[in-house]
Amino acid sequence: AEHLRVVADFQPSNADELEAFRLKYLGKKGVLNDLFAAFKSVPNEEKKEYGRVVNQLKNAAEQAVLRFKSELEQSKPLHSENDLTKTGDHVFTGSQHPVTTVRNEIVDIFKRIGFSVSEGPEIEDDWHNFSALNFPEEHPARDMQDTFFVHTDPDWALRTHTSSVQVREMEGNEPPIRIIAPGRVFRNEAISARSHCIFHQIEGLYIDKNVSFADLKQTLLYFAREFFGAETKIRLRPSYFPFTEPSAEMDIWWGLETETDYRMTKGTGWLEVMGCGMVDPAVLEASNIDPKVYSGYAFGLGIERITLQRFGIPDIRMLFENDMRFLNQFKGVI
Ligand code: PHE
Repeated sequence: AEHLRVVADFQPSNADELEAFRLKYLGKKGVLNDLFAAFKSVPNEEKKEYGRVVNQLKNAAEQAVLRFKSELEQSKPLHSENDLTKTGDHVFTGSQHPVTTVRNEIVDIFKRIGFSVSEGPEIEDDWHNFSALNFPEEHPARDMQDTFFVHTDPDWALRTHTSSVQVREMEGNEPPIRIIAPGRVFRNEAISARSHCIFHQIEGLYIDKNVSFADLKQTLLYFAREFFGAETKIRLRPSYFPFTEPSAEMDIWWGLETETDYRMTKGTGWLEVMGCGMVDPAVLEASNIDPKVYSGYAFGLGIERITLQRFGIPDIRMLFENDMRFLNQFKGVI
């Protein structure tokens, strides 16, 4: 009876325990062989009952071994279903890439003030990437962005900026136009801790009647405060892009605390965040929008740079290597 109870309760947690159990009961020198050997000395009137119980034990032990063996082979967990103290099975979960996290956050900020998301192709023709954006043929402005051409066809290239989506949007739609366009861009330049030949931008474009530089500035201030914090200050520095006039670079000021934390603008506290400006009338005309009726602003920001800033990542290459030791650190960040 004691053995019957032990066999019924048997719960191996691994193959070794199962093998030990098999040897103990069913092995050559096991319990069952001993019990069968003792059969001779059992009084005649008890033989029948003795035999019944020993056979019952043998069957139970054999069945337990078969059952647990096949369970182990299918590597099923060996705990009983209602043992709530057992550790759960390991489930692998991925994590969102930090560039995706930052992109989504920026997109949400602009969606809240009426921008909708638009996308364009990564392989672009010269018209959408350059000519319609007022880059003159053979003009040094084209050297601003070293280009990867497709085969040797000068008309097709990997887009060097998301400004190409501005053109597609203006060609295909009547104003008012209010879009942001996140996407990948490509430049044939040396890879270093600070820059990569692949990165991501978010383009913004707003075309309507009476859009002014003040509208641009207020929109960018709103963005900077939503993304970097309510105390953030911005400054607009005069700059040059062929497709905006006037053009500017927007910097953000982090205040003293973050100035010392920030690894890439040591000692200044200003971080360059994006290019922007009023859409050049020549660009509106190239897309058949009448510059006497409409005006607009555009801006473009690089996602990687502020991703490095946001998470204190020291090297842009980490964003492209897909090293699990790096990516795992972003679990639960979103
Ligand atoms: N396309 C520019 C760049 O890649 C950024 C920009 C976009 C500037 C829109 C002005 C307006 O550097």
